[in-house]
Amino acid sequence: MHRSSKRTRLALAITAATAATFAGIGSAHAVEGPQPIVGGEIAHTSDTPWAIQMSNTASPSPTGEYCGGTLVAANKVVTAAHCVEGTSASSWTAVQGRDDLADTSVGKESAISDIWYDPSYGQGAHDVAVVTLATPFEGVPTLPLNQDTSVGESGATATVYGWGETEGTGPADTFQKVDVPLMGDASCASAYGNEYVGEGEVCAGYEEGGKDSCQGDSGGPLVVGGKLVGIVSWGQGCADAGNPGVYSEVSTYYDELTSHIG
Ligand code: ARG
Repeated sequence: MHRSSKRTRLALAITAATAATFAGIGSAHAVEGPQPIVGGEIAHTSDTPWAIQMSNTASPSPTGEYCGGTLVAANKVVTAAHCVEGTSASSWTAVQGRDDLADTSVGKESAISDIWYDPSYGQGAHDVAVVTLATPFEGVPTLPLNQDTSVGESGATATVYGWGETEGTGPADTFQKVDVPLMGDASCASAYGNEYVGEGEVCAGYEEGGKDSCQGDSGGPLVVGGKLVGIVSWGQGCADAGNPGVYSEVSTYYDELTSHIG
């Protein structure tokens, strides 16, 4: 969910147990409260036309800003299961090509005609979903799914995109991006314990924090080498030292996702 997902609450619950692991790092850079898509910069959907805003009627924002998504076929958007679980298709509008969500004079919109999400969501990882556009975004470039299971451990720098929380350090509901290195499963396992599922999630950020995705970015793309490697899923706070961002691992769900993209 936009503000406090179940995963986020679970992550909060394990903070005390895992805080000691990062005490040395965390205390030096401790920041109170949620932080924005820290260290990000203004981005342009003209450069990344496959980046989709998934607006929802339940959004606290007048723009409807709620989750992100990625156009993977003219009529299919990959997003996070936790974004769509328990929602009706009619509550959603997919928006393409609109950097500033308040500027409704630009970009394309589509209603959602169908929602699929991984039936194993809720049992750890599996935070993946595919929604169908009622009005396909014909002619808009799509992003291919990454199939290479080794990328998460490669140390490559990924870029994450979204319209999510900025906590005042950037304009609200405006498309942004930030580069975050893939940290490998061990980093998130030591930060989050069993809450992190190496088989199905990838870990990205900096040990010292400072750059991360945040609330409202969920479902959006984590990209390496022109492929969708991850889907914004969860984290303890945002950009806090010792608490990397956790992303659904697209390669793990490649076959399943592909079967729902057609
Ligand atoms: N669960 C959040 C959402 O629904 C995404 C949180 C990402 N957090 C992070 N620290 N990277 O928007």
